Amino acid sequence: MRLSDRPLVSEEQITRRVDELAAAISRDFEGRELLVMPVLKGGVFFAADLMRRLTVPVFVDFIRARSYHGTRSGGTVEFLVSPSEPVVGRHVLVVEDILDTGRTTAAVLDRIQAEGPASLALCVFLDKPSRRLVDIKADYVGLEVPDVYVVGYGLDYNEQYRHLPAIYVLEDP
Ligand code: XMP
Ligand code: MG
Repeated sequence: MRLSDRPLVSEEQITRRVDELAAAISRDFEGRELLVMPVLKGGVFFAADLMRRLTVPVFVDFIRARSYHGTRSGGTVEFLVSPSEPVVGRHVLVVEDILDTGRTTAAVLDRIQAEGPASLALCVFLDKPSRRLVDIKADYVGLEVPDVYVVGYGLDYNEQYRHLPAIYVLEDP
């Protein structure tokens, strides 16, 4: 395993897309307060950049989830870190590093939806639509990526590489 020599997504591209997403979200939620829920650990890097560019009032709360896949699409999810802010009646934006099969994310959204938010939206920096197993679409997507394993900007391989400021492909030697 080694990293691609050049990033798949450069720091400049990341900055540009985060700016555009923040502008779109700020416009869509104008006049409302947002409860931003980054999904630990990977979503924290993207969410920190995104939140600093939002022009609406922001509250933040973290979630960490592990999903168990049964027969039901989305499976069941256990929150290793549960929301500490009340969700009922709030405008919630879940922020993830990547949407892959969609299983974990779908289960997280189901759990939050059950708590009665005023609205619930999903923002992911990367989307790998070719891998989807659960019918789920993000409301805000940074970039679509092919079915390659990516690291950096929050994404890890065995907890390594999260801190890299750009996104690289993890390649076989
Ligand atoms: P779902 O439930 O959508 O879960 O399959 C998405 C989670 O899978 C991990 N994931 C990746 N992590 N590079 C990574 O570092 C990748 O290319 C990748 N694809 C999926 C990630 O933890 C994400 O939250
Ligand atoms: Mg993750």
